[in-house]
Amino acid sequence: MDTQADWQDLGEVGLLQGQALQQISVGRTKLALSYVNGEFGAISGVCNHVGGPLGEGRLDGDFVVCPWHNWKFHRASGIGEPGFEEDTVPRYALKQENGHLFVDLNSATRRNKKPHDAHPLTRKLERVPGPVRLLGISTTAMDADNPRFSTSDMLLQISLEHASQELNAETRMIKINDLKFRNCEGYYSKSAQACTWPCSITQMDSSDEMEQVYESLVFWCDAVIVASPIRWGSASSLYFKMIERMNCIQNQVTIRDNVLIRNKVASFIITGGQDNIQAVAGQMLMFFAELGFDFPQFPFIAHSRGWSSEDMERNVAHVRRSKELQDGARALATRSVEKAQTLIDANAGAASTERGGRKAHRLEIIEMA
Ligand code: FES
Repeated sequence: MDTQADWQDLGEVGLLQGQALQQISVGRTKLALSYVNGEFGAISGVCNHVGGPLGEGRLDGDFVVCPWHNWKFHRASGIGEPGFEEDTVPRYALKQENGHLFVDLNSATRRNKKPHDAHPLTRKLERVPGPVRLLGISTTAMDADNPRFSTSDMLLQISLEHASQELNAETRMIKINDLKFRNCEGYYSKSAQACTWPCSITQMDSSDEMEQVYESLVFWCDAVIVASPIRWGSASSLYFKMIERMNCIQNQVTIRDNVLIRNKVASFIITGGQDNIQAVAGQMLMFFAELGFDFPQFPFIAHSRGWSSEDMERNVAHVRRSKELQDGARALATRSVEKAQTLIDANAGAASTERGGRKAHRLEIIEMA
């Protein structure tokens, strides 16, 4: 049976010709209406990816570019860009009468989502059995070709060596300074839904190396120690560049109830010539708590010689010599690894109790039957 047309008035042609691309709502239907070379086109205003408003994007020739993550659909046919022709959004019939443009809402073609390759970071979260895995993240910045001595790096290295040699932990070090990755470009500011897991940039730019941090932090490690110098009373600029890109981890909790960080431990090493340790530690603790990390007792070690200590050479020399700080770095590793092991054991216990519970429940049902 033919469906009857449902022509709806979109407005005066002369006015609608004024914009090359616009998002229009007709009742509950969202349209991306375009006008190029004297021809109107109307396709759905809802992107196949995660629902971006296509009519608020831009035109690339005859393709509408989604404003959220740049997927493209032909402005008149709704067909995806070359290589994704099976990925289509509905297109609508248009007609002009008495100087007005009309759309037939019943003429919509089918939406067809062709799965784009799933990013490896979307795989299921599962802890691979094995010893505790401790990740070290160094956020100090320096000229990699002409490196200088870093006190926070030194203490982090001591923590990792202690974990590996004395605690039988697997360890891995990431120096943020070595990675090439883009700043967070504010996808969340377009829409909470536009900030995806993995990060929108990671999905679109395979050369972006923040992926290494996501892989190690979300999948590999049981515990992480983040080391930062103090810069103007705050953590380092690289620390902030890194955590802004972790917004996508926290955003999963708030918009999808998808907690990516479970049963993991975070702790911190903070060193600087000048003060404000408590504020730096407080900010780091707050952020990692928001991601879902747990903390060992006394979750950070820190050192500074106060506001008036501008003689940084002495500061560096002091940390290099300080047995107390080096013992502190080892103790931080011990507390982190032990706390992680406790969480791993508790989680394994909870899983077996749950399995036992399910089994008991099944037995109960069988007996009742
Ligand atoms: S590309 Fe359109 S919502 Fe992601």
